[in-house]
Amino acid sequence: MIKLLEPSLPTADELLPWLRQIDANHWYSNFGPLERELTQALERHFLDEGLGAASLVLVSSATTALELAVRTLSGVPAPRVLMPALTFIASAQAVLAVGGAPVLADIDPDSWLLTPEIAERALQSGPIDMVMPVATFGCPVDVDAWSRFSQRHGIPVVIDAAGAFGGQSVGAPGVTVVFSFHATKVFSTAEGGALATTDPQLAESLRRRSNFGIGKVGQGVTECGSNAKLSEYHAAIGLASLTGWPERRSRLIALHLAQLQGIAGHALPVTLQARPAQGPYAIFPLLLGSGAERERVEQALTAVNIQHRRWYYPPVQMHELFQNVAKADTLTVTADVAERLLCIPYHLRLGQDDRQAVMKTLQAALA
Ligand SMILES: Cc1ncc(COP(=O)(O)O)c(C=O)c1O
Repeated sequence: MIKLLEPSLPTADELLPWLRQIDANHWYSNFGPLERELTQALERHFLDEGLGAASLVLVSSATTALELAVRTLSGVPAPRVLMPALTFIASAQAVLAVGGAPVLADIDPDSWLLTPEIAERALQSGPIDMVMPVATFGCPVDVDAWSRFSQRHGIPVVIDAAGAFGGQSVGAPGVTVVFSFHATKVFSTAEGGALATTDPQLAESLRRRSNFGIGKVGQGVTECGSNAKLSEYHAAIGLASLTGWPERRSRLIALHLAQLQGIAGHALPVTLQARPAQGPYAIFPLLLGSGAERERVEQALTAVNIQHRRWYYPPVQMHELFQNVAKADTLTVTADVAERLLCIPYHLRLGQDDRQAVMKTLQAALA
């Protein structure tokens, strides 16, 4: 069996020094010392990598982060939130969970992302209170372009960059960026997430709201909140992961390059997502020529025990829960991409022989 993805988190030995700190601190959740250390280390990481200056708020998942962001930033009780139809269902569920209404937009045919140009057109179809672009398949989105969009229209933008840690920039005014640290992501705390903003007051509000809206001890709450805190144990996993991150990042970038070379070397007639950088990515999607061709490739991969997946399938509007969802346009590109898209094995335990076997199987199926 060649697996589609294989998470790799810190080993017990790598975790042990951090767990011993928790033992010594007797502090297990509620903004403990490890949670603070991880927050500061990640803020430094964004700066050092040239990804921007921002205040970070760590939370229990990207989904809770999206819920907090929509509730805090939309400014209306039942916000209409524009998002791409091709996304993980969590983007739409987060809006629904806080009483909002997703409004689906189409994606760009090359990047497979919701772009500011598509959102501009969508604004003409009806009122929009907030936009949630998604870094689909971990592909970073242009924060500066979205910052200009936000300023031009006075509409807050929350980027669902769940899978784009390591490549996604943060520091842009008017734009809040959400990351997932779920076990399947390139940087992980097993379960967890983060919000990044250039507005320190907003960061403080998001942080309070992740703790039931509680601010200073003894003062009553003034903001609607939830429980979205990151425990010390999850922070320990994050700190242990961060130690190995630079090496992991380089290996993921090398893997991406090797994968691209494999596709070119085997002259595979597939279309790839127009990605602005070489990585790090956790997913490798490709577009086949048609739905029928995608089915043929799936059968060939299954026959030789190679895992594969139609990622983000079905798109949001095809789920029963969202059958009456508002749509800003015809979603033509989304339907086409969703029909032809397939993800092939992609992870750091994939050997050269495994990659070769995947390429050969694709080549034979596409001959
Ligand atoms: C685009 C997108 N948004 C949101 C999420 C949810 O992240 P989490 O599992 O941290 O809640 C995911 C998870 O994969 C995702 O891909």
